[in-house]
Amino acid sequence: MINDAPAPAGPPEGLPGNSEVVLEVKGVTKSFGPLTVLRGIDLNLHSGEVLGLVGDNGAGKSTLVKILSGLFPPDDGQVSIKGREVRLHSVQDASSHGIETVYQDLALIPQLPVFSNLFLNHEITYAGPMRLLNKRKMRELAKRYLDDINVYIPNVDTEAGQLSGGQRQAIAVARATRADASILLLDEPLAAMGARESRLIIDLVRGLAKSRMVSMIIIDHNFAHLFELCDRVNVMQGGRITINQRTQDTSLEELTELMVSSYRSQLQQALDS
Ligand SMILES: Nc1ncnc2c1ncn2[C@@H]1O[C@H](COP(=O)(O)OP(=O)(O)O)[C@@H](O)[C@H]1O
Ligand SMILES: [Mg+2]
Repeated sequence: MINDAPAPAGPPEGLPGNSEVVLEVKGVTKSFGPLTVLRGIDLNLHSGEVLGLVGDNGAGKSTLVKILSGLFPPDDGQVSIKGREVRLHSVQDASSHGIETVYQDLALIPQLPVFSNLFLNHEITYAGPMRLLNKRKMRELAKRYLDDINVYIPNVDTEAGQLSGGQRQAIAVARATRADASILLLDEPLAAMGARESRLIIDLVRGLAKSRMVSMIIIDHNFAHLFELCDRVNVMQGGRITINQRTQDTSLEELTELMVSSYRSQLQQALDS
């Protein structure tokens, strides 16, 4: 479906699994000085759903993710979580609403072992005034959690810097979901990753959505990835969501076609006005 006006707010009917809306974005706008990036974003995300977000470079995808992760506020519009409007004043604030983000740079500390990275800023300490780190406990929980979500890291004492790009991405995803994240935002998690590494992350993401009902928004440029990863795809063009399609109802060819004709009609409108 293609709209030139504000986007289809309604999700396609009959999504697999629980179809409770966990996140709803309505009329979100954002400008940076004279540059208007978001002109009224409407989107929603269901429990356990993986939503792909695509659009040209500079379309405003990362800006939307930053608003949803509490990095900066929208100029206008609403964000609701489980039906209640929220104002996300900080990353901690978003986190307290169950929203976690994995950025492209991952923010792992290469010199620290895997288990420390998993508990970064949430370290477990022994009781008592010294607050000594309980490394044994963190190691054990790290192993168990990675095992749970099928991430294979031979040794949680390995420094993060020694891991492959795919393993580091998996650790970043594991860290974001360890503390009960219900909404995970991933900004180009597969960028600069080879086929095998991408496979690892695709499986991890699908697994988290299925077994833990984590809802996700994933930004990716690769349509083949999106069709493997996502239940639904939203296209951002001209500061709005212009296309909202369930992947099972469309094909790579059709989606490409839709995007092209949507660009054409926008261009025509711009010429006409
Ligand atoms: N903090 C900022 N200050 C000024 N301009 C910004 C800022 N963040 C993003 N932009 C601009 O907003 C536009 C959208 O950027 P972005 O959201 O990163 O797009 P995308 O992720 O879709 O490639 C770009 O033109 C970018 O230069
Ligand atoms: Mg971006």
